[in-house]
Amino acid sequence: MKDIKTVGVVGFGVMGAAIGLNAAMSGYRVVFKELNDELVATMFAKGVKKPLEKRVAKGKMTQEQMDAVTGMITGTSSYDDLAVCDLVIEAAVEKQDLKIQVFTDVASACPADSIVVSNTSTFPIESLMTGVPSRDRVAGLHYFFPANVNRLVEVIRHPETSDDTYEALMAFARQNRKVPITVRDFPGFAINPVFIASYLILDAFFGDDCNARTLEQVSQDALGVKFGIMWVQNGTGLGTCYHAGASMYDYLAATEIGYPAVPASLKRKFEGGELWDLEGGEISTDAGLRQAVSDRLLGGIFAISTHLVEQRVVSITDLELGITTSLAWPRGPFAMMNEKGMAEVKRLVDVSAAAGDFKLPQKFAENDLTPWPGV
Ligand SMILES: NC(=O)c1ccc[n+]([C@@H]2O[C@H](COP(=O)([O-])OP(=O)(O)OC[C@H]3O[C@@H](n4cnc5c(N)ncnc54)[C@H](O)[C@@H]3O)[C@@H](O)[C@H]2O)c1
Repeated sequence: MKDIKTVGVVGFGVMGAAIGLNAAMSGYRVVFKELNDELVATMFAKGVKKPLEKRVAKGKMTQEQMDAVTGMITGTSSYDDLAVCDLVIEAAVEKQDLKIQVFTDVASACPADSIVVSNTSTFPIESLMTGVPSRDRVAGLHYFFPANVNRLVEVIRHPETSDDTYEALMAFARQNRKVPITVRDFPGFAINPVFIASYLILDAFFGDDCNARTLEQVSQDALGVKFGIMWVQNGTGLGTCYHAGASMYDYLAATEIGYPAVPASLKRKFEGGELWDLEGGEISTDAGLRQAVSDRLLGGIFAISTHLVEQRVVSITDLELGITTSLAWPRGPFAMMNEKGMAEVKRLVDVSAAAGDFKLPQKFAENDLTPWPGV
């Protein structure tokens, strides 16, 4: 297994900074690569020094410890300086052509056995590695925002990722005090297909009878969470939510899985530069409406989770772990299904299929109502 000591991070933005800082604090040497030296300096001040100084001020770290961490970090605007890296994490802007070029440039700058991964949220890893000669060392390492706090990391394997590469990435994630789950290269990977579907379904109900506060409360009640799906969308940014939703729909709607369409309400809000209003208006007391929203939300979550397992994208255990870790839901979808009872779950996935959100997973098409094992 490749012994990772030095990590390159291409793209010293919000995610790259947190990923690299996390690695430096876990004992790795880190080389940040940006477009120019000015950006390297600005981001070092903003994304490395500032958060560390805050930790020192709060007494969570000594000045000596901070100096030791910053001493592990260098920055560059040249790919040549990544030649010392055992692992390079691509965290540049979300543009496919750019990422393909970064992978190509990294592969030609680094030794043949360096591992190259992407933190892309939407592009299949396989689509990014056309310029990399040895694809067994390519994978995905998908962190979640905010990457210094959220502990989940999806380790994405495409068909040619070697066992050695995979094992080295699992060990790297654990050394970074992250919770890694194993995911097959699939549109959106494992967590986002569930999360994105949940907000597309809710947003479709938005209108005169059903305001954002109502949708927020229904999602809190259905999932048992303190912060509901509307609140999380506001935190993510409605532009990001819209583009991610459109991308998932394009990848999956016409397949045997299906996917909810992007509702006009989300497009309007994002184009108007607005957020979901979680303060204004009365919460609806219409029990029928609330039930309809809740049924379709849960039906969609249960349908996509079942599809992901049937398609061997992720195991039941890893999806449970991933959802509870990254989204902070108290229970994952499979535990929720077992708790509700499979006859009720079948009713809910039928609601989802009738609404055109998802096709019926094989288990439910065959009327197999045995509970999920191992949860
Ligand atoms: N922000 C999130 O919530 C989130 C979550 C998971 C994954 N991601 C993914 O992480 C990646 C980065 O997202 P972000 O939010 O940090 O974006 P960002 O815009 O904050 O940072 C991207 C950085 O990449 C730099 N860059 C562009 N081309 C480069 C090149 N050729 N060489 C070096 N640097 C280059 C830009 O100057 C910029 O500083 C994207 O692929 C995104 O989809 C983001």
